Amino acid sequence: MSLTINGQSYEFDGDPRTSLLDYLRDGCGLTGTKKGCDHGQCGACTVLVNGQRVNSCLTLAIMQDGHAVTTIEGIGTLEAMDPLQAAFVKHDGYQCGYCTPGQICSAKAMMAEAENGWASFVTDDLEGEVVLTDEEIRERMSGNLCRCGAYSNIIDAIKEAMT
Ligand code: FES
Repeated sequence: MSLTINGQSYEFDGDPRTSLLDYLRDGCGLTGTKKGCDHGQCGACTVLVNGQRVNSCLTLAIMQDGHAVTTIEGIGTLEAMDPLQAAFVKHDGYQCGYCTPGQICSAKAMMAEAENGWASFVTDDLEGEVVLTDEEIRERMSGNLCRCGAYSNIIDAIKEAMT
């Protein structure tokens, strides 16, 4: 079975019970994706599969045959940060940082969803620019927990990245 991770092709022939999360971390050395609850409740393990956010602890590696997976390592680097990552830095959108990779993957998907017409309103005065309310962002990001409670800064970072 083969899959693409961050644009690179990988072959998987391991235990079919291996979660995507364990494969990414232990099989591929992509430790940016974090294991929190391992039960689909915290969002720390969020990655993108074909652009959709997925809790990688809840899906099997073998189910990703032919799919394109993006982890935090594929979104940006220290030298070339994605604008969303730069906004997290600017707004202190983290404290311990453990949830941050999942927050950013989730927010990237949410921003794409909004751009594709999910947003409940589009302002008239900003020439069609998509603007989300804090409540909309909170609702759409509710699957990603931050034990440090940096939620308001996370929202500020996402709002800046969307402008
Ligand atoms: Fe997957 Fe918590 S580790 S949701």
